[in-house]
Amino acid sequence: MKKFSVFSAAIVGINAIPTTLKARDTSACPYYLPEGSYEFPHLIVPINNSDIAIGHSYFADVSPGDCATIFNFDIPTSRADQQCSVYFTLPRHDQLVTSDFKWNGNNTSTEGPGTLDFIQYAYNTGATDATTGNTQPPFGPDVPITYSTIQPGNAYKVWTGSCGTGGVMSWKLSSPDSYLYYFQDWNLCAIGLWVVYEGAAPVQAPSCGSCPSTKKFASHAAWVETYTDGALTREAGTQA
Ligand SMILES: *[C@@H]1O[C@H](CO)[C@@H](O)[C@H](O)[C@H]1NC(C)=O
Ligand SMILES: *[C@@H]1O[C@H](CO)[C@@H](O)[C@H](O)[C@H]1NC(C)=O
Ligand SMILES: *[C@@H]1O[C@H](CO)[C@@H](O)[C@H](O)[C@H]1NC(C)=O
Repeated sequence: MKKFSVFSAAIVGINAIPTTLKARDTSACPYYLPEGSYEFPHLIVPINNSDIAIGHSYFADVSPGDCATIFNFDIPTSRADQQCSVYFTLPRHDQLVTSDFKWNGNNTSTEGPGTLDFIQYAYNTGATDATTGNTQPPFGPDVPITYSTIQPGNAYKVWTGSCGTGGVMSWKLSSPDSYLYYFQDWNLCAIGLWVVYEGAAPVQAPSCGSCPSTKKFASHAAWVETYTDGALTREAGTQA
């Protein structure tokens, strides 16, 4: 599958901010993405009720009962079996600098509460550029989640569950009654769909040629990682 990085420039920007510079002011944001502990979608694919592939886009596009948008998130294997949460963040227009959105009101800037459905696709499926409304991946494992009073200026923690085994986690955003059109972005406030890790990043095995034959180097609530002769093993459910 062809992948591209929608926000590579933005992410490089975050990582490149020197500590002497003032951090961006996110004091008014509905949600703060925890740095180093979330995923942005690597592929955004709008679909509609047809056999026509729209292909990847920088924009999410939703219309009542027709246009919907699929988001693929790449979960690293180091996060396998952790808990993941899906957030949908929709700041107000005045909280956005490099993005904007249309919400409700038949794809105008009219605002007001409306419904969004968040639907999970089977782990390690997801969209490709060729996906259409009629060739979507299988749904599941969880049932769709509906929020009927989505309004700008808010963030919604839509779902929490397994991050899967590492690989693609994919979600569909659709609506029975509302239009949504936006550029997924983090600046000034995050707007869009995000996967946030509920636990700390696992510590990576040290790369060295002369490590002790067995070295316990990291422990987490959910597992203990042991590094033995260059191989990383995890024991689930143990505390160091
Ligand atoms: C679906 O999108 C394609 C490409 O933009 C468009 O040509 C087609 O008319 C749309 N079909 C429906 C049912 O909205
Ligand atoms: C909403 O408007 C944008 C342009 O402003 C357009 O590209 C998009 O396709 C529209 N979405 C729908 C569902 O009509
Ligand atoms: C949205 O606007 C278009 C034309 O601008 C109109 O044809 C359509 O009926 C409207 N749909 C709804 C749901 O209001």
